[in-house]
Amino acid sequence: MSATTDDRAWWQRGVVYQIYPRSFADGSGDGIGDLSGVLAHLDHLRWLGVDALWLSPIFPSPMADFGYDVANYTDVDPVFGTLEHFDTLLDAADRRGLRVLLDWVGNHTSDRHPWFMASRGSRDNPYRDWYIWRDEPNNWRRAFDDGPAWTLDARTGQYYLHHFLPQQPDLNWNNPAVRQAMHDVLRFWLDRGVDGFRADVVHLIGKDPDLPDDPDDRVGSRVGWHTDSRTYEWLREIREVLDGYPGDRVMVGEINVPDPVEVSAHTGEDQLHLAFYFALTRAPWDAGAFRSAIAGIEAATLARDVWPGLVLSNHDQSRHRTRYGGEERRARVAATVLLTLRGTPFLYAGEELGLEDATVPADQQVDPGGRDPQRAPIPWTPDPGHGWEGTPWLPWPPEPDRRNAASQRRDTGSIAGLYRRLLHLRRDDATLHAGALELRDAPDGLLAYDRVGASGLRRVLANFTDEPAAVPDDGRWQVLLSTARARDGEAFDGTLPGTTAVVLAPAD
Ligand code: GLC
Repeated sequence: MSATTDDRAWWQRGVVYQIYPRSFADGSGDGIGDLSGVLAHLDHLRWLGVDALWLSPIFPSPMADFGYDVANYTDVDPVFGTLEHFDTLLDAADRRGLRVLLDWVGNHTSDRHPWFMASRGSRDNPYRDWYIWRDEPNNWRRAFDDGPAWTLDARTGQYYLHHFLPQQPDLNWNNPAVRQAMHDVLRFWLDRGVDGFRADVVHLIGKDPDLPDDPDDRVGSRVGWHTDSRTYEWLREIREVLDGYPGDRVMVGEINVPDPVEVSAHTGEDQLHLAFYFALTRAPWDAGAFRSAIAGIEAATLARDVWPGLVLSNHDQSRHRTRYGGEERRARVAATVLLTLRGTPFLYAGEELGLEDATVPADQQVDPGGRDPQRAPIPWTPDPGHGWEGTPWLPWPPEPDRRNAASQRRDTGSIAGLYRRLLHLRRDDATLHAGALELRDAPDGLLAYDRVGASGLRRVLANFTDEPAAVPDDGRWQVLLSTARARDGEAFDGTLPGTTAVVLAPAD
């Protein structure tokens, strides 16, 4: 298939919107977001123009890691609603042309999952081998606080492995019964009609069976975390499960390793459809840093003919506006880049409102990984309750009286208005959602690339400095979109004001 045609699957053409259900919207009035809250705000997603939503985990959980510790994979936690609420949401999303992805946490369960409760029951319990037990721990460290990745179970006198909290024991994917059970989990939701999954830390499912110590210079490092080539085999089995269903179901992997080549190795025809490339989340506010992140993603995906998933923000990292020093103009430029690159953009709820991280006082901090600030509730309205009946579980992000969905939707010049224009432009423009990308040489501080495809040439220019930038003159261009609203549709005069971006097309 030519890279310039529009003949792409929905998950390549489309844009996915990540919802962190606790923080999105609250239908029940208990201060914690839920599925009725999501249902009530689906029209916001329609208005914006995204194609799919991904729900962070909604399953029964003791919430040690706020849902990434699953105690039952085939139900909904009462705090979020019921299976009936979920079915209603799925129907309502479908009626609005929105696909729905769930968050599938395959590497580990909660320590309260019946499988683990049985497993820790005794050394000869049939579930013992569903997890990873050893008489002696190796030197691996866990996430969040860098403590040991092993916890001694006093009753049975062995240690179990957990790459995350002690409440998140890693499953033993070497055991075929575990793989079978996990395939059944996927089928349960696919049968219900979901369009796919975001696969949590799925590169970790394969572990070197010898569990060797990390070399001294890598102890505590997350780099390359203990992966084993059997992961690829198990991803192929997972792909077969999805391929057994009609309608372009998709598996998006969180392969959280720095090397984009390694990320790509997990994707392709018979593995993951897509994976996140986190290079943009690691790039500082600098045109050169963005350029090398993009170049790395392009090289790693083109080499294997796979399609990238692109992301600036999510529930695990500081919001990008905050990372870039809090300036909304920078967030606008970044949004323009994200939504005009080659790949599937993933938006994190609230970035379209230009939200910054919240300041969370010590006595309100709840996440063991320190990620509360980016999980602050979404303000829907300007009034003091901001569309939430009860007091939300975390404090508001800054300026909720201005940075709320209702106020921003009324103002076409708002950052939400910009996201909407970008999303509509991208959707209607085959080059932007399907074309090839060519990075261009540009003066310092300027990021420049072309998109080449079925609807013709597009050029994106992004000025990362506060000073106006003169763009080398080659031809006559028309402004399709500018982060400084006034210029849309005008001829491009060859100068880009400080901290702005434009999408151009040749003027005919
Ligand atoms: C992923 C999730 C993160 C979670 C971790 C363990 O990185 O995005 O929120 O804490 O996996 O499941």
